[in-house]
Amino acid sequence: MEFNDVIYGHKSIREYEDKQVSQELLDQILEAGIRASSSGNMQSYSIIVTKDKQLKEKLYTAHMEQSMVIDAPILLTFCADFNRMRKWLTLNDAPVHFDNFMSFMIGAIDATLVAQNCALAAENAGLGICYMGSTLANCNQIGEILNLPPNVVPIVGYSLGYPKENPTLRDRLPKHGLVHYEQYSDYSNEEILEIYKVRDEKGWKRYMDVPKLKEMTEQLGLKNLAQIYTMAKYTKESHHQFSQTVLNYLESQNFMNNK
Ligand SMILES: Cc1cc2nc3c(=O)[nH]c(=O)nc-3n(C[C@H](O)[C@H](O)[C@H](O)COP(=O)(O)O)c2cc1C
Repeated sequence: MEFNDVIYGHKSIREYEDKQVSQELLDQILEAGIRASSSGNMQSYSIIVTKDKQLKEKLYTAHMEQSMVIDAPILLTFCADFNRMRKWLTLNDAPVHFDNFMSFMIGAIDATLVAQNCALAAENAGLGICYMGSTLANCNQIGEILNLPPNVVPIVGYSLGYPKENPTLRDRLPKHGLVHYEQYSDYSNEEILEIYKVRDEKGWKRYMDVPKLKEMTEQLGLKNLAQIYTMAKYTKESHHQFSQTVLNYLESQNFMNNK
C-alpha cells in the first residue's frame, strides 16, 4: 500500500475473520517494529505474542472481556523491559540500576514506538489492530498471566488479524487545535468550543445511534459528550483506582527504587 493510504486509512478493528496470520507475515511485522527509534538504542521493551487459546481466555478477563481478545488470532503485548538489560549489565560487571521511574518511562516510550511501527506494518499488509487500554489499567493481572519477571511491565497491547468489519473513519480534532508554533498558546473558551464543535456533534451522535449506549446515557442523565467522558467512560473513581494499580505494580516490579 501507499504510505499515505496506510496512515490516513487507519481504523481500529474489533471484529476479525477466523483466519490465521502466517508466521512469515508476523515476522515481517515484528521486524518493522524493531526498527523503531529507541532510547540509547537500549531497546528496553519486550513483545509478547499470544496465540494460545487458554492464555487468550485468561487475558480476556484481564482485558475487561473485550471480545477481540478471543476473536483475533493474535494478541500483541508490548512491555517496558529493563530485565534483559540488567542481566547484561550484571554479566559485564557494570553497575546495575534502571530500577526507577525514569527507566520505566524510557521503557514505556520504547514499547509504544515499537507497537505503533508494528501496527502500521500490519495495516500495510491488510491486517487490522485495536489497542486495548486494559493492558496498562490491569497491568498487574496481565503481568501475572504473561509470567513477567521484575523490571517488566505491560504498556500497550492490541488484537491483530484479518478485519471482518469496515468501520467508518473516526474524526480527529482539527490540526490548529493540536499544534502550537514555537511556544504553547493557551486556549480561550471560544477556541475550545470551536475545536470541539465537530467532536461534540459526531461523538454524541455515535452514542445516540447505539441503543444500549443511548439507554445508558439517558439513565445517567448525561447531557453532552464531555459528560459521557467523565461521568461514564472515564470516571474519577475508576482512574484513581487504575492509577493505584499501576503505581503498586511499578513498585512490585522494581521500578520505584529511587534510593
Ligand atoms: C492506548 C489506547 C488504548 C485503547 N483502548 C481501547 C480499548 O480498550 N477498547 C477499544 O475498543 N478501543 C481502544 N482504543 C482504540 C480507540 O478507541 C481508537 O483508536 C479511537 O477511538 C480512534 O478510532 P480509530 O483508531 O478507529 O481511528 C485504544 C486506543 C489507544 C491508543
